[in-house]
Amino acid sequence: TATYVPFKVKDISLADWGRKEIHLAEAEMPGLMSLREEYKNEQPLKGARIAGCLHMTIQTAVLIETLQALGAEVTWSSCNIFSTQDQAAAAMADAGTSVYAWKDMTEEEFDWCIEQTLFFGEDKQPLNMILDDGGDLTNMVLDRYPELAAGINGLSEETTTGVHRLYERVKNGTLPMPAINVNDSVTKSKFDNKYGCKESAVDAIRRATDTMLAGKRVTVCGYGDVGKGTAASFKGAGSIVTVTEIDPICALQAAMDGFEVKRLETVVANSDIVITTTGNKDIIQAHHFEAMKDKVIVCNIGHFDNEIDMAWLNKNHGHTKDTIKPQVDKYNVNGKDIILLAEGRLVNLGCATGHPSFVMSNSFTNQTLAQIELWKNSAAYGNDVFMLPKHLDEKVAFLHLAKIGVELTELRVDQAEYIGVTPKGPFKPEHYRY
Ligand code: NAI
Repeated sequence: TATYVPFKVKDISLADWGRKEIHLAEAEMPGLMSLREEYKNEQPLKGARIAGCLHMTIQTAVLIETLQALGAEVTWSSCNIFSTQDQAAAAMADAGTSVYAWKDMTEEEFDWCIEQTLFFGEDKQPLNMILDDGGDLTNMVLDRYPELAAGINGLSEETTTGVHRLYERVKNGTLPMPAINVNDSVTKSKFDNKYGCKESAVDAIRRATDTMLAGKRVTVCGYGDVGKGTAASFKGAGSIVTVTEIDPICALQAAMDGFEVKRLETVVANSDIVITTTGNKDIIQAHHFEAMKDKVIVCNIGHFDNEIDMAWLNKNHGHTKDTIKPQVDKYNVNGKDIILLAEGRLVNLGCATGHPSFVMSNSFTNQTLAQIELWKNSAAYGNDVFMLPKHLDEKVAFLHLAKIGVELTELRVDQAEYIGVTPKGPFKPEHYRY
């Protein structure tokens, strides 16, 4: 019923700048560029109408143009209200992609943007593939447009939190199509979540606050993949890092990695920075805020803002909120200032530009392979969550070696026999944990 809007971005005149950054990113994304080369004749995504909902950054632009180079039609929204890079969105719109994304939108605009991606072109052809990050697009389709599900071949999901939602759907019997868990490819979660955050966590604090990190006491809540990268990020900057965990294995890992492991209650009063990485809810609560020291920096690098009790902060201390600059707010709680970044939303994409291209190339090469597999072989899968096979995981890694000058040792036939693998891989059994 509503009129067709071909795209909506903040400022289309940013397209040239965006295009120049995209060209630089392409040189850092060998996995995606080699898929373009490998599949340019075969066009495996021909006929696919992929609706994507994933941070509209420069790196994502290279993903979008890879999907298009493989034959797909693509529409796009961002999976976070603060994560769009407006020059990237402008470059996509300028090249004719239906992108609906701009930095700093309202929640209503966020929903509107996702909704626009469901129907393609003037004749409103419905999507037939989903590429999601966090599950908001999936939920929009399955909860509000369930009639579209039958026409969708499958979905691929980028992040831990979205994958968690998918497994819940399987348990409840509400997943009506096959899904590929991209997050748990080794070349995704053990690289993007970890080495990505190792670079982008401190980047976010620096761009937002310019505060000195060396010598500061930083508390990292959670020591999963994102927590490991985040803790390493601050350690590398010379901060004194404490970790909190609920899982004894991860707590022991943190301790063995040389971090103090304490409860948040024990260290919160002495922390200069507190950052949540858990993918869980209600990590920083009222009594923590009330115990914090003056000028503490509080932020979250997990997918959703409910890791921090923003509702309590806004309800009880919202009248003290003073915006220093976009995504940097000062609150006053009982006489002490609290610097809250990105309104509690993921800080590396809210206050900085997310992970570097090279690591995102690993994630997005997995995404592209997942889209090809589900588009071409959907019928071979049931309505469940699947992983890409290990040989593809190894292929993704392999495609990134030459760029950084890695010499891979070749396994001899007799050696392969001795350790029980084939010389061309897979090189590890399924249960191996890396
Ligand atoms: P994970 O499951 O590997 O790690 C989460 C850790 O938090 C676990 O070790 C868990 O035991 C711990 N935890 C849970 N509740 C806790 C509590 N109450 N206190 C202390 N620790 C607690 O998940 P992963 O992959 O590290 O992802 C975490 C979040 O980050 C997810 O929401 C994910 O979607 C998001 N993510 C964000 C990225 C970014 O660029 N900002 C990149 C990748 C993932």
